[in-house]
This record gives sequence, C-alpha cells and structure tokens, in this order.
Amino acid sequence: MGDLTTERSNPTGAAPVLVASNRGPVSFGTADDGTLTLRRGGGGLVSGLSAIDDPDAVWVCAALSDADRRAAREAPDGRLDRAGHDVGGQAVRMLGIDPETFARAYNGIANSTLWFVHHLLWNTPTAPVFDAGFRTEWEAYTAYNTAFAEALAAEAAPGAAVLVQDYHLSLVPALLRAARPDLRIGHFSHTPWAPPEYLRLLPDDIAEAVLTGILGADRAGFLTRRWALAFADCCERYLGADVDREALTVTYAGRTTALGVHGLGADADFLRERAHRPDVDERLATLRATVGDRRTVVRVDRTELSKNIVRGFLAYRHLLRTRPEWHDRVVHIAFAYPSRTDLAEYRAYTDQVRALAAEIEAEFGTPDWRPLVLHVDDDFPRSLAAYRLADVALVNPIRDGMNLVAKEVPVVSDQGCALVLSREAGAHAELGQDALSVNPYDIVATAEALHAGLTMPAGERADRCKRLAAAATALPPQQWFLDQLNALRPGG
Ligand code: F6P
Repeated sequence: MGDLTTERSNPTGAAPVLVASNRGPVSFGTADDGTLTLRRGGGGLVSGLSAIDDPDAVWVCAALSDADRRAAREAPDGRLDRAGHDVGGQAVRMLGIDPETFARAYNGIANSTLWFVHHLLWNTPTAPVFDAGFRTEWEAYTAYNTAFAEALAAEAAPGAAVLVQDYHLSLVPALLRAARPDLRIGHFSHTPWAPPEYLRLLPDDIAEAVLTGILGADRAGFLTRRWALAFADCCERYLGADVDREALTVTYAGRTTALGVHGLGADADFLRERAHRPDVDERLATLRATVGDRRTVVRVDRTELSKNIVRGFLAYRHLLRTRPEWHDRVVHIAFAYPSRTDLAEYRAYTDQVRALAAEIEAEFGTPDWRPLVLHVDDDFPRSLAAYRLADVALVNPIRDGMNLVAKEVPVVSDQGCALVLSREAGAHAELGQDALSVNPYDIVATAEALHAGLTMPAGERADRCKRLAAAATALPPQQWFLDQLNALRPGG
C-alpha cells in the first residue's frame, strides 16, 4: 500500500483492539492566540468503546478540518495521545489525508453517492450522473480507504480485532485483509442498506467494489435484520454469492462472512443524568414559557435530506388546516441542526425547511401564539429539554439506519410522550408496537397520527412511553460494542 497520509508511517503494532471511523472522538479548533483547542465528541461509538478500558486500544479516524490536519501533522505518526492531547480512554491516530482527497472521498463518494444510494435519495430523472468527475472522486475514495487500511495494518498487534465503521470505509475490510490476514475484521453499517434495484444505479464495478470490500470482513454488522438481508440480497444478485438467510452468512470467492444484527440502543444512564443538569432545567423553563399550557409536538434532527423535515412540516400544516381545534392549543418545536453544508443539496434543503416554517408561522401565527418554533443552531441541552417536554415526538425519516432520537425521547420524557414513527426507520423494528407508525411520504396519515398522539389519554401515553423506553435501552452502547467484539473472537 502506498503512503497516502502526510505523516510518516511508523508501525508499533501493539493494539489488540482497533476502531476505525471517519469522524473520531475528538476534533480541533484554533484559539485566538493560534493554539489548538480540543473538543471531545459523544455518540454511540464513544460510549461503546468506553466498555473496554484498554489504553492500548487505538481509534483511527480522519482529520476533518485544517485544525485537525495540523494536530495530526504535529503528533508523532498522527498519534494524538503521544502529543499529549487528552483524547479519552484509548489512543487516537488521526490521519492527515490531504484536503482535496478527503473532500472528494467524503463529500463526493461517501455523502453524495453511498449515503444517497442507501437512503434512496436520488431524484432519478436528473441524478445520479456518473461522469469523469465521479471517477476522480472514486479514486480519492479508494486512496482514503487505503490510508485507513495502511494505518490499521501498522497499529494492529498480531491477531488483533478491528472494528471498521460505516459507508465511508467500505473498502477497508478487503484492503486490510490483503495486508494483514491474521487480523479479525468486523465492519458495521450505521445506515440502512439499499435494496438490489437501487444499488444497481451505481456503476457495476463500483457496486461490486463496495460489496466485496465489506465481504473482506469476518463479520458485517447491521442495525436491523432488514438491512442485513438487503446486503445479502445484493451480494446474491450482483456477485452470485451463496446466501444462508437462516444462519445469516454470505459465502463468496471461497470465504464466508457472517452477518450480525446489533440494534444500538440509547444510553439510559447518561441521558437520565444529563437531562437533569441545571443547563437543561434552564432551557426547559424557557421552552415552557414559550409553550404556555399548550401541547407540544417535538422533532430534533440534523438538517438531513433523509430526515424528511419538510414533509413533517407539511403534515403539521395539514393538521392545523383540517383541525382548527388545535389553533392556539399546540406548538411544534423543531430543532434542525446544520449538517453537511458543503453539499448544495443540503443548503437548498435547509432553505426549504426555513421557508416552509415561515409560511406556517405566517398562515396561523397570532400575536399570542407561535405555532412553530424552529431553531437551527445546535444546542444539546436544549434538545434534552425539548425531549422532556414533548407530548408527541415526531420521527418521520424517509429511511434511517436506526434513529436514536426515537429511542432517546421516551427515555427522558417527564410525563410520557407519544411517538409518531416512520416505518422506514430502523428503530421501528423495536419500537413499532408502541409507536404510532406512519408511511413517511403520507402527509395526511402523518397529520392523523399527530392528532392521535396529541389526544392520546395520559395513562395510555405514559404506559406506552414506559414500554418504548424499555425497548429503546435494551442494548446499551457498551454492550452493543462488546457483543461485536466477542462475536469476532475465534468460535464467537
Ligand atoms: O448514520 C451514519 C452516520 O455516520 C452517523 O453515525 C452519524 O450520526 C452521521 O452519519 C454523521 O455524519 P457526519 O459525520 O457526516 O456528520
């Protein structure tokens, strides 16, 4: 493998467990005096990895910004821990991939191609277009995956377990196996998997590379059985692989890859503690002052095409148009945080979200009543405050690997909330029984589900919410991580 990172490669080969993901556990900024500032991130993978308290474990991630690249460059072999940064319980190797290669791989292939294919996001009369520019992006994606495989091969102890995350790194398992056949390699998809007819939109060689890349792993993990079977269907149809749907295995070119289903749950202990700190209480008081004694419909998302925010607003508008009894009696609190703003589609979508919110305000708002309160700046404690307050949580993605908001709201809800949930969210497999299920494209049915949630008797709402919270926390992040690690052990 060629040296694609800007740092010198100096294998230590001491790590018994490794994680690889595009976004790492820390990110950097630059202070006014020019020094680097470090920010620790959260999320399922960070809590999951905390289950193994091993300072020799290594997390390999990409530098996402200029400040990250500087930190990676200044650290020996990109090892942030060796540069004295406080990166958490494990070591971190940050790859200073050159910015152009990174942008083509991340924006061009990962987010504009693979994300779109798995979430069924293309408007097919005009997109996708696989032209010469796409081929340049694909080369960059291959180089970026090679840089990860190279770093993992350098850091891994003999026989180490390597857990590779997501669609950014679909080529890594096969590349790594070629370099280090002694390793036990897992890949985990945090997204849905495309059905065969949709994967077929990709150029044949690209679809094949993505599938065989993941099949380089000993185990390929998914959030639901539905996504695991979609992957198996694609392998059967396009590679001619042998699929055992009972045992959940795919055999191709003489090797068998086991498929695993691990439905990542909400981190109840963390959420319940965090949701009752003073900063959350403060924001809750502010929200309560806005809402008064009205009911609330809450949604919290990244401003992400797959989250279906626009149709959610259309459903709310339909509710207000068809059921005037809700005028002045309900407030829709919508938090739509910035995401992937380098992509034109996301910027246009954000504009559409804002414009529709303004239209709804203009159509129904009065001096005393704001029917829709939209915030677009990221504020985690305020999200938790909204979770606590919600009478109805609206989670209506077009398609979603899991959707942790659907799992988090019932856990921290103060009075019990009704959950309006898209049947296309992975979380529906576990929460469907106690949620109000909707087809995410059906505005009228979504409006009716909002009405049903708002009028649900308090006792029923609290009972359902309790069951939702239990299902949502069945597999906490630490166990989710350990299960995958144990399944990779010989005989696991
Ligand atoms: O759903 C896949 C995923 O990688 C999530 O784990 C995460 O919430 C999201 O995409 C974040 O994407 P990005 O790192 O591009 O902001």
